[in-house]
Amino acid sequence: AMISKGNHRHYMLKEIYEQPIVVAQTLRSYVRRLEGEIAMPAADFDLTAVNRVTIVACGTSFYAGMVAKYWFEQFARVPVDIDVASEFRYREPVLEPGGLALFISQSGETADTLAALRHARQAGQTIAVVVNVPTSTMAREADLLLPTHAGPEIGVASTKAFTCQLAVLAAFAANLARAKGRLSDEEERRIVRHLSEAPAALNAALAYDEAIEAVAAQIVNARDVLYLGRGPDYPLALEGALKLKEISYIHAEGYAAGEMKHGPIALIDESVPVVVIAPSGPLFDKTVSNMQEVQARGGRVILISDYDGVEQAGENCLATLTMPKVHPLIAPLVYAVPVQLLAYHVAVAKGTDVDQPRNLAKSVTVE
Ligand code: G6P
Repeated sequence: AMISKGNHRHYMLKEIYEQPIVVAQTLRSYVRRLEGEIAMPAADFDLTAVNRVTIVACGTSFYAGMVAKYWFEQFARVPVDIDVASEFRYREPVLEPGGLALFISQSGETADTLAALRHARQAGQTIAVVVNVPTSTMAREADLLLPTHAGPEIGVASTKAFTCQLAVLAAFAANLARAKGRLSDEEERRIVRHLSEAPAALNAALAYDEAIEAVAAQIVNARDVLYLGRGPDYPLALEGALKLKEISYIHAEGYAAGEMKHGPIALIDESVPVVVIAPSGPLFDKTVSNMQEVQARGGRVILISDYDGVEQAGENCLATLTMPKVHPLIAPLVYAVPVQLLAYHVAVAKGTDVDQPRNLAKSVTVE
């Protein structure tokens, strides 16, 4: 069936704008808001026995997995190993009893991820999948199916599937923590409350679309762009850089903010815009000090933060984008919006084929 773009110029933009609704739709299957409880599809294996999680995915789905690693370790205190699917099988991974292998895929058909799933199954792992296409091969081969309800995603560059994956993964991490007796009722209520705030916060982030379009004009002529973030917002920096490369063909790199001084700082001059993703929270001051190292070398910073963060650190920036102030748990969902829109507007300004960028496929079914 044909899916219409509605009033939007591209599927990608339509899908970015759908995020408040599809994240809310997805959360309905994973949290009971009023009761303040996580409510997951039942697993027919013993979650309490899980002593290690191995996350495997490709592309944007891999970055969702990187964010989830922080959550599994923080909430459930279970060690997490993560790899891109094309590397996983060939490095002789150590997969022991009690291991849960978690695969994340929009399509549920990516060849490398599927091969990794079968490899993990052979090695005796329990298989959980987060997929958007419920009829996909990965969905069929899972012990535990955790669907995202993003609806069909047409744009080659993944957007709404990513934020829905994050919503599911946060709930799953909390659920594992509860199963292992590591989450109090109070903490569970708090997580459910923060997750339930995500749809409204995504909406508020979308309201900055015009401001983001204006900032995009500062990037259009750049040859290279650097994205920096810390903690769970470090994968967001990687995702921001990926989005920009995919659709605008501008070379972009994502880096852990603190690692910048070990290499990319050598690239800094006034021709390389540096996008700093720094919501206020426990890591804010550290990220800002890395940002100031950039500025001290003449680097031009685009700071994405909230009102407090922009107040505190926005002064010498080329541009600032003010997001709604949210709990750090949902910052990776909310800050996905400005990095997606930034890439989108740069691509539109450059006149690329936004929905079908050259050389890329929506679903990569060859290894
Ligand atoms: C391709 C798409 C990306 C996607 C990746 C993984 O590269 O262009 O948008 O993130 O595949 O796809 P999957 O369906 O497994 O999430």
